[in-house]
Amino acid sequence: MTPTVAPFPAARLRRTRSTPAIRDLVRENTLSVGDLIWPVFVRAGTGIEEPIPSMPGVMRRSVDKIAEAAVEAQAMGIPAICIFPYTDASLKTADCAEAWNPDNLTNRALRAIKAVAPDIAVMTDVALDPYNINGHDGYVVNGEVVNDATVEALVKMTLAQAESGADIIGPSDMMDGRIAAMRGALETAGHNNVMILSYSAKYASGYYGPFRDAVGASGALAGDKKTYQMDPANGDEAMRLVQRDLAEGADMVMVKPGIAYLDICHRVKTGFGVPTFAYQVSGEYAMIQAGAQNGWIDGEKVMLESLMAFKRAGCDGILTYFAPEVARILNA
Ligand code: PBG
Repeated sequence: MTPTVAPFPAARLRRTRSTPAIRDLVRENTLSVGDLIWPVFVRAGTGIEEPIPSMPGVMRRSVDKIAEAAVEAQAMGIPAICIFPYTDASLKTADCAEAWNPDNLTNRALRAIKAVAPDIAVMTDVALDPYNINGHDGYVVNGEVVNDATVEALVKMTLAQAESGADIIGPSDMMDGRIAAMRGALETAGHNNVMILSYSAKYASGYYGPFRDAVGASGALAGDKKTYQMDPANGDEAMRLVQRDLAEGADMVMVKPGIAYLDICHRVKTGFGVPTFAYQVSGEYAMIQAGAQNGWIDGEKVMLESLMAFKRAGCDGILTYFAPEVARILNA
């Protein structure tokens, strides 16, 4: 009996996995230092680098130390750094006026970075939570997070950041109409080149826990953020939010958290074809570090694998606390 078909498959997919050289040749995605945005935490004082217990390896830095870190990041080729403030409880008020104080931590850090690391792009966070007595991203009136009054405050905050040298404004508040209001105010004030990277699809997530410790907001938060952050069950709504933010003038959009929302990253990138970023948030970082510290996973491997997953999903870049560590590995 002569067999009419080969006894083994003609398509042997293992052939293109057989050696490092061939694997290099057929690799579909790459992770590079140019994909990274490094979120950093700024605090009061001088000469301070204070560890954050729930985020091993991450520090709260005083303004001078943030500037030093930015110089190092720039030298490593990290294209952008994103500032989050740890605001002293005494500066938190119901009107959140510290948010648009030209001398608040974020604005001082902006000017300090610009003075010593002019080539790194500096991104800022726009939301009221670090300054709000109740820990919410917007004003709370009669138990409700009110939209339009919050947007007015966010515009003031945006303008103060632009005046201090912000390159990229990152609204993380999830109020309606904020992108149009910010874009309009920036144009009117002559900040035509200041970009907006909108946290368009930001979910009400349990993965933000360590961040709220890092910025000192966890104790303060009354209730949850479900009336403004998205329901983790929804995907179509993310598309509507991205569409809306682009129409209002966003230059780039973000999905947050990251790993649990890769389907959203993929839908946004394929659906809109715009610069799309994912935020690998504090809880994702903490889980990888905890697993690694216990010897349960290979931390470096999982870190790189998780970041590659964002690239495969279609992201143009990733906000990650691992940025300097990744840059060191990729530059080696
Ligand atoms: C607040 C803000 C949060 C994060 C970034 N901006 C927390 C929240 O919405 O409660 C989370 C980042 C992280 O977890 O790493 N506007």
